[in-house]
Amino acid sequence: QTGMTTYDPGFVNTAACSSAITYIDGDAGILRYRGYPIEQLAEKSSFLEVSYLLIYGELPTPQQLTEFTERIRRHSLLHEEMRRFFDGFPRDAHPMAVLSSAVSAISTFYQDSLDPFDDEHVEMSTVRLMAKVPTIASYAYKKSIGQPLLYPENSLGYVENFLRMTFGVPAEPYEVDPVMARVLDMLFILHADHEQNCSTSTVRLVGSSNANLFASVSAGVNALFGPLHGGANQSVLEMLETIQADGGDVRSFVRRVKDRQAGTKLMGFGHRVYKNYDPRATIVKRAAQDVMGRMSTSDPMLDVAMELEEIALADDFFVSRKLYPNVDFYTGLIYKAMGFPTKMFTVLFALGRLPGWIAQWREMIKDPETKIGRPRQIYTGAVQRDYVNLEQR
Ligand code: SDX
Repeated sequence: QTGMTTYDPGFVNTAACSSAITYIDGDAGILRYRGYPIEQLAEKSSFLEVSYLLIYGELPTPQQLTEFTERIRRHSLLHEEMRRFFDGFPRDAHPMAVLSSAVSAISTFYQDSLDPFDDEHVEMSTVRLMAKVPTIASYAYKKSIGQPLLYPENSLGYVENFLRMTFGVPAEPYEVDPVMARVLDMLFILHADHEQNCSTSTVRLVGSSNANLFASVSAGVNALFGPLHGGANQSVLEMLETIQADGGDVRSFVRRVKDRQAGTKLMGFGHRVYKNYDPRATIVKRAAQDVMGRMSTSDPMLDVAMELEEIALADDFFVSRKLYPNVDFYTGLIYKAMGFPTKMFTVLFALGRLPGWIAQWREMIKDPETKIGRPRQIYTGAVQRDYVNLEQR
């Protein structure tokens, strides 16, 4: 009986670990961070406040939030020698590959404060990652378009600073669109944690060897890169672009997916846990309609996405397999409307998921009982046999 929830023994035996951070009920479509419903946090909170909640377990007081925000602001710069690091990548390097490499690389400047069992070191690593990952993400983008890197502007808010470093240029002032910043802040909240998903379990598993927080998060970034996980938001846009390029015939595309001829699943649909509508997708869909509504030109791809959802949700192939839109189905449309290229979509997912990775790593390091144990296997290989000399083979 934990958190007013009773688990059947079968579930407990298959659970990778225990955790007090995020609760999901896949059948009921429930998602709560430290007990708070995602719907309330998305509407009323901010990404840094939710990050504090996930990492420290409680909503911050006004003073705690101010101090947390200030600590992060003071560490948003990268070590100047990191600027050369970005020169080493080809211009078309995928920003997720740059991100995972850079997250690991920045730890080399802090080798005297990486001890996972030193509270001060863990605190500094937490703040440094929260502060520097947006800077790295924006630099990965700037590198890909051959524009100069912008230093952080610490008079701006967390998301605003990221937007300015990403879309600003030294030649002219950059005005952050407050609506865009608020929507992106809310999207980061929706992505902030999600129990033991592939990338978070990776962070825990790597961290269970007492690897430092930077190394563990870098591994999480690589896991998120996969198209079936965080890479799905990029794949959704590519799927919608394919449908549009084929004349927008959604029904024939759905038929090809069902006949396994589309060479792809319905990206942005289905979930390992949610066998109902992903509660985050509901919020993102509303935000997508709102953002498009504010745009002078609505994106025809939103119409394709909504038609695709309508057709799929009326089709027994998807309903019988409990395949509903997940968090990735609509997010890409909003990112595209904001001006991000598809290659940056998964980087945005990583920015949102960062506090969840940090919180889960800290929980595991603090309480070895919550470590993902060493996984075992069912051996299906050859039975014992004796060595055969080369000349006799
Ligand atoms: C994320 O775990 C998390 O919490 C992840 C995440 C997070 O916040 O961290 O929520 C983020 O990763 C969301 C998921 C993003 N991925 C995609 O949108 C990619 C498309 N989705 C599929 O790859 C798939 O739905 C999964 C991997 C997400 C979930 O797969 P399941 O539920 O384990 O289902 P399955 O792979 O066992 O397939 C069951 C059946 C199969 O058909 P049959 O063999 O029974 O005939 O459903 C089919 C699958 O082929 N199927 C799909 C499908 N997903 C499953 N068919 C078409 N389109 C799909 N999207």
